[in-house]
Amino acid sequence: QVNLLKTKFGFDDAFNYKKEEDLNAALKRCFPQGIDIYFENVGGAMLAAVLPNMRMNGRIAVCGMISQYNLEQPNGAPNLFCLVAKRIRMEGFMVLDYFGTYNKFEEEIAGYLKEGKISVVEDVAEGIENVPTALIGLFSGHNIGKQLVTIAHE
Ligand SMILES: NC(=O)c1ccc[n+]([C@@H]2O[C@H](COP(=O)([O-])OP(=O)(O)OC[C@H]3O[C@@H](n4cnc5c(N)ncnc54)[C@H](OP(=O)(O)O)[C@@H]3O)[C@@H](O)[C@H]2O)c1
Repeated sequence: QVNLLKTKFGFDDAFNYKKEEDLNAALKRCFPQGIDIYFENVGGAMLAAVLPNMRMNGRIAVCGMISQYNLEQPNGAPNLFCLVAKRIRMEGFMVLDYFGTYNKFEEEIAGYLKEGKISVVEDVAEGIENVPTALIGLFSGHNIGKQLVTIAHE
């Protein structure tokens, strides 16, 4: 998967968080100058490791915190004071708020897809009976690419 990120998706660097003993050290290796913008999808230990590696006036767009969803006791980042010390702006967003601009989004993204500016990888399960397995798989890294389920073939 690390290879996929560095080749097909064109990231300069990547690491597998499951194989790193020290997330802070891994981030320092990949971002020796620090992080300007972090797109948050994970929360918990990853957020705690990212915060001290953020640069002054950095920005964090909060899309999700998947590591926290099924915990009885969420284990949020204990070092949020980094937001103050580094003057970081952290802001959440919900896709529901942008449905009004969906047509514009579709038009723009369709163009990028045609031009090959965006790569798409899909992980397709077959049949409605596989919806629960596909959904649960999201929490254990079973999917590689956007998880879809085919309900019927036209
Ligand atoms: N703000 C919004 O409007 C909005 C809308 C939809 C989704 N979201 C959020 O977007 C994020 C991605 O959702 P998605 O539906 O696109 O799923 P996805 O990225 O296709 O799949 C979820 C991935 O999360 C990783 N993951 C699961 N547990 C983890 C953990 N404990 N620590 C680190 N990584 C973990 C797994 O990757 P590995 O293979 O590395 O384990 C899995 O592949 C989620 O946080 C979701 O809540 C936000």
